[in-house]
Amino acid sequence: MTRVFSGVKPTGHLTLGNYLGAMRQWAAEDQHRSDALFCVVDLHALTVDHDPARVRRLSRQAASLLLAAGLDPELCTVFVQSHVDEHARLSYVLECVATDGEMRRMIQYKEKAARERERGGSVRLSLLTYPVLMAADILAYGTDEVPVGHDQTQHVELARDLAVRFNQRYGHTFVVPKATNPAVAARVMNLQEPASKMGKSDDVGPGIVYVLDEPDVVRKKVMRAVTDSGREVVYDRAARPGLANLLEILAACTGGEPAELAEAYDAYGALKKDVAEAVVEVLRPLRKRHQELCADPGYVEGVLRDGAEKARAMARPTVDAAYRAIGLLPPVADTVVNAAR
Ligand code: AMP
Ligand code: TRP
Repeated sequence: MTRVFSGVKPTGHLTLGNYLGAMRQWAAEDQHRSDALFCVVDLHALTVDHDPARVRRLSRQAASLLLAAGLDPELCTVFVQSHVDEHARLSYVLECVATDGEMRRMIQYKEKAARERERGGSVRLSLLTYPVLMAADILAYGTDEVPVGHDQTQHVELARDLAVRFNQRYGHTFVVPKATNPAVAARVMNLQEPASKMGKSDDVGPGIVYVLDEPDVVRKKVMRAVTDSGREVVYDRAARPGLANLLEILAACTGGEPAELAEAYDAYGALKKDVAEAVVEVLRPLRKRHQELCADPGYVEGVLRDGAEKARAMARPTVDAAYRAIGLLPPVADTVVNAAR
């Protein structure tokens, strides 16, 4: 059976981009057709300036939103990254296979590091090595497919490169994974700045729809979305990015093709209204289920405990094999047992 792994960072409240670009597909398709793991990747939230209490809160919230989005612990494994030591254990070994130049070429690193320096801040070393930890997340589980939004494709390619390189140098150890993207909404853009991704860590509120926003807040944000100059409603990503984003969101929420949907409208106002209602309807069951889960924190904790246990058992043999292959001496207990055989 295909092994699928994906993750979400607890760096901010989850957005419509996370939902349409990733979580929805995990729930609707991936968990049914594959042996899937979905992870709140909290170690990744420490790569930028962070407040420990907020990371803890957001990790809990992300886990319950994954369940609210429809991930079923009977069908897949839901867990928190830091609960399974194998991720950090493997990451170091992969750092010994990755190169400095390779890391510095990562687009997200370049962008985030530049932003941090502009602010006069310092760049954490973990921001540079973060894609290696992500590769460890993926490779520890013998993952075949990694369903992510477009922004993560380069990182998954790095995981591929590291797997191939490790296998060539030290013997076959890792499955070589590939990224998969949703058909629509692989890149939901900020409603106020359609040239940039709707990212939860940016924290520029008005252009970001959070999955837990009240319906009226969603409506306000969509109605205020920037559109482009020009009057007719056509789907043209390059020339009319703001409008294209709205059409893509509508397509992702209601089905259909953005270009065909455009034909039904002759004014922006009517389109925005429909987009707003479509988003409100898509998020409604998620918000409701999340409220129910908040009333039952013991349930979520139980799911995460069981998930971590399952994940650990899956990752351990591969990470142990990587340790042996790269030349690390087995711990004494193992040596004694092996020698006695
Ligand atoms: P992150 O928010 O970076 O932890 O991303 C979690 C998942 O959501 C990843 O698969 C991302 O590619 C996806 N994602 C995040 N933002 C967007 C967006 N604006 N559009 C589409 N997918 C997104
Ligand atoms: N880097 C991903 C993001 O920012 C999150 C992530 C971490 C991830 N590890 C992963 C996604 C492993 C897929 C597989 O969205």
